[in-house]
Amino acid sequence: MARVRIDLDRVAGHVDRRIFGGFIEHLGRCIYGGIFDEGSPLSDARGFRTDVMQAVEGLNIPILRWPGGNFVSGYDWTDGIGPQDQRPRRPELAWHSVESNRFGTDEFIEYCRAIGAQPYICVNMGTGTMDQARAWVEYCNGTGDTYWANQRRANGHDEPYNVRYWGLGNEMYGAWQIGALAAEDYVKKAIEFAKVMIWTDPSIELVGCGLSGWSEWDWTVLNGLAKHVRYHSIHIYTGSEDHYETVFSPHKAERAIRLCAAMIERVRYDQGIEHDLTIAYDEWNVWFRQRAAASRLEERYTLTDALTIAGYLNAFIRQCEALGMANQAQLVNVIAPIFTSPDGLFKQTIYYPFALLAAAIQPVALNTWVDSPTHVLSGDTIRPGDEGPYDLLDVSATRDEARERLTLSLVNRSAIDDLETTIDVLQGIPAQQIELNDVTGPDVSATNDITHPDTVTIHTRTLTHNGGPLTLTIPAHTHQVLQLRLSED
Ligand code: AHR
Ligand code: AHR
Repeated sequence: MARVRIDLDRVAGHVDRRIFGGFIEHLGRCIYGGIFDEGSPLSDARGFRTDVMQAVEGLNIPILRWPGGNFVSGYDWTDGIGPQDQRPRRPELAWHSVESNRFGTDEFIEYCRAIGAQPYICVNMGTGTMDQARAWVEYCNGTGDTYWANQRRANGHDEPYNVRYWGLGNEMYGAWQIGALAAEDYVKKAIEFAKVMIWTDPSIELVGCGLSGWSEWDWTVLNGLAKHVRYHSIHIYTGSEDHYETVFSPHKAERAIRLCAAMIERVRYDQGIEHDLTIAYDEWNVWFRQRAAASRLEERYTLTDALTIAGYLNAFIRQCEALGMANQAQLVNVIAPIFTSPDGLFKQTIYYPFALLAAAIQPVALNTWVDSPTHVLSGDTIRPGDEGPYDLLDVSATRDEARERLTLSLVNRSAIDDLETTIDVLQGIPAQQIELNDVTGPDVSATNDITHPDTVTIHTRTLTHNGGPLTLTIPAHTHQVLQLRLSED
């Protein structure tokens, strides 16, 4: 038995739709053989896989990060423009591959336009120079009669691309990163990159390179870059073979967001920062199986993982005030919701909660009061300051500005027990037919594949509600999205 109480006046914040962002990296089959598959009968004249584009459109992605990831720290963007047949093939050192450069900046912008997403480019702060970074901004956004703007025109693009979001390097703290730096050194270098990029186009918004959100690195970088950036990035991936450890792992990410938000508040106060400064959680997902480069990170997802994705999105909604954007890593084949073969694709389990919420979310997040049975992780030593025990029921609630619609995202994370749940809205829930969408499958280890694409999928049903508090049963291991009408007519 669980209880949820909602007051339409208790606003938690406004949800930025960019929490449904995506990310594509030159890694494995994400771009080549994923979104871009030249010569395939499934591709259009540009080389874009039309089946993949259709699946991507179902995710409603408002912003797309590119080209990495670790890849970017060895990437020379000038290799990826001009006639495709003349572009150099280069050894690729982040993932030990070869980069053909057939997909570059113009193709990326074209793809963003095709799927209706804003481009977000991360620059190379490993082997890359300040000059390459500022030239990239000029190539994309330049309007004057200057060399790189003219190169873009020569490549057939008269109008500037107006790329607004630019990342100052990827994971510059990590030993695996080409050109990794100590935090103080990163700050010094990033400030110089920021200056020339902003001077090239003052309308761009920069993303500083954070780590987990609340590490010493984050504190140093936030203090050093606050005046220059609009976003501070966080990368955290979670998951393990254990169902409960995995489904509760978004709470660790939520804690990181809360703590990072507190650090931002402190820096803002100390330095008198007036401009927006929020978190870009620009790599997130379940990822623990295929870690080695040789695996091409082709993770196969289970129902547990899908419920975890629903939990992440609920956490992003609850923490929406601190979060300017989030980008699920990645979009196709590489730790991704969409999985291709040369002659088709299937949607992984994690596709469905994302697609459901991206379509059903409303702009105003509400605080919720939840009373739920809890679960203690086996072997967990609950230490002061740590999380847990965890509610089996995870909830987020959003409404429209006019208070006519309410969307509830409810995750029953129990592997075995259904959860009878009462939902009470202080201002009342009028009688109506309610559409319920359940993401579920036979058991928590269920997966999809090309011959069984619907083992985990969305099941839609209608419920007749006669007014007053709503009582329903959320089946075990199910993500349920409800869209309620709040006004009488
Ligand atoms: O998304 C896979 C990799 O994870 C990215 O290249 C890197 O930024 C992160 O470590
Ligand atoms: O797999 C290589 C690196 O190891 C990843 O980029 C990073 O997330 C991890 O720590």
